[in-house]
Amino acid sequence: MDIYEVIKKRRSIRKYEPRKIEDDKLERVLNAARLAPSGKNVQAWRLIVTRDPELKEKLIKACKGQKFVAEADCIVTVAVDETSVYQGHGNYMTSFAVDGAIMLDHLILAATYEGLGTCWIGAFIEEQVKEILNIPDPYRVVAMTPLGYPAQEGKDRGRKPLEEIVSYEKW
Ligand SMILES: Cc1cc2nc3c(=O)[nH]c(=O)nc-3n(C[C@H](O)[C@H](O)[C@H](O)COP(=O)(O)O)c2cc1C
Repeated sequence: MDIYEVIKKRRSIRKYEPRKIEDDKLERVLNAARLAPSGKNVQAWRLIVTRDPELKEKLIKACKGQKFVAEADCIVTVAVDETSVYQGHGNYMTSFAVDGAIMLDHLILAATYEGLGTCWIGAFIEEQVKEILNIPDPYRVVAMTPLGYPAQEGKDRGRKPLEEIVSYEKW
């Protein structure tokens, strides 16, 4: 698969096989996340890979009852230290959410290439996730994803055409 095939193939997967991810495969996917860029290359991030069935079960509630998150072999959580990241992103915000999002996107695309399924999870209760996973302040939970062998293809949810979202030179 080339990069464009990987991008097209990625879909949100909400059904998983219980099959364990091979260690070398998991390491390659995590390494892709490690190589992501961050503001000023600060890399103030942590990836938490949760495999323990009890913790995964607790995370269902923290993810507002999304049961499928715990079906996958692991749940990956991206946490970023909001005080250490580049503070002047666009001169109006810190880069913690951007850094974390790029990191998880790298992981998700690498996972797709490896035949693994993911689903970006943004609907979670941050305080609960932090408590369950012992994530200290000032880390913020940016996003999560189940990571495992997919038990479905995922649907094509469609996208706006380029003409609708791109303009050249000016708005
Ligand atoms: C910021 C963000 C938050 C999301 N949160 C959730 C979520 O909590 N649960 C879920 O099932 N999907 C979630 N999604 C997945 C989107 O619904 C999905 O990406 C979108 O419908 C397009 O479908 P596709 O990923 O299959 O192309 C989220 C995606 C993003 C980017």
